Amino acid sequence: MTENRLQGKICLVTGSTSGIGKVTARELANRGATVVLVSRSRAKGEATQAEIKQATGNQEVELLVADLSVLENVRHLAAEFQHTHDHLHLLVNNAGAAYPRRTLTSEGLEATLAVNYLAPFLLTELLLDTLKASAPARIVNVSSAQHATVSMEFDNLQGEKTYATLRNYGQAKLALLLWTYELARRLEGTGVTVNALHPGITASNFPAGMAGPAAWAMKLSKPFLLTAEQGAQTTLYLATSPQVEGVTGKYFAKSQAKPSSSRSYDKTVGLRLWEVRSNWWLVLRNGPETLLRGKERQGLQRSRQRRGIALPYACKGRGNPSPLPW
Ligand SMILES: NC(=O)c1ccc[n+]([C@@H]2O[C@H](COP(=O)([O-])OP(=O)(O)OC[C@H]3O[C@@H](n4cnc5c(N)ncnc54)[C@H](OP(=O)(O)O)[C@@H]3O)[C@@H](O)[C@H]2O)c1
Repeated sequence: MTENRLQGKICLVTGSTSGIGKVTARELANRGATVVLVSRSRAKGEATQAEIKQATGNQEVELLVADLSVLENVRHLAAEFQHTHDHLHLLVNNAGAAYPRRTLTSEGLEATLAVNYLAPFLLTELLLDTLKASAPARIVNVSSAQHATVSMEFDNLQGEKTYATLRNYGQAKLALLLWTYELARRLEGTGVTVNALHPGITASNFPAGMAGPAAWAMKLSKPFLLTAEQGAQTTLYLATSPQVEGVTGKYFAKSQAKPSSSRSYDKTVGLRLWEVRSNWWLVLRNGPETLLRGKERQGLQRSRQRRGIALPYACKGRGNPSPLPW
């Protein structure tokens, strides 16, 4: 990619209705790219689309609607994108959230893990062939320095034992990094690069819904934080700079490569995460209760029965599930 001229390039940016993602999408449009916005709200997405078109004069700004906490929606999103595009030169996995309380999605997955790790993972895997067909292409994963404050607690990945907003958020961002490095190894020689970043502490809408002392601390420190414009710079650098042409499997902050936590490079942990993904694959095949234990599992099963859902949601075909791309 050439920093200032992105004509003919197709870019998809998740979480593009607010903060860092919105600035990223606008700047890509400003440089002439076709930009596909992803929003969970049609109204908010349409307002952002109109705003970016007006600000940049670029009419090639499209909108896809998906709540990324639900993996079935991620599958639809990828399919919808591929229905209208056979190329993708840049995928920015930017959407992120830190739920103040443990929240289970309709698929029975913990929402912070689903939005920050499972959704970007699945979306990328589903779009990999399109990215490879468009090489040179780039994947940019927006992680967080919070990853360095935690380790993977495999018996509490979904906050089954205890849930703490920042710890579970950090864990999801650590998972995102472990997978970024694994993906970089797998993509060697394909012309598709993947890097991750910390944007800096940015005054955005993040984390919406935060309560208690953390929320007060965030409010009080707002004047000293980066603006969304500043927070988007490392993403834009990785997305467009010729200086990172061919650079892959790295972590960036302030537009410079730097080491992430030692835990994020631990291949044994990466392997265990792979097992978790296999469990998650079972979830897709056998239904969300696969990953839940004891009372939670029974509760979900009872609620499904009450709603007359006889089969697990992803089990329409029973027998062999449709192959997943890993
Ligand atoms: N701000 C910081 O200090 C900071 C620090 C480190 C890392 N980060 C990371 O930077 C990225 C961007 O955050 P930001 O600061 O720009 O926050 P933000 O203003 O809250 O933007 C987050 C974006 O993600 C979208 N999103 C959240 N949950 C979603 C879901 N379930 N489905 C679809 N979209 C969803 C939001 O959509 P809505 O507009 O509908 O809410 C919004 O567009 C995140 O990955 C965050 O973890 C931020």
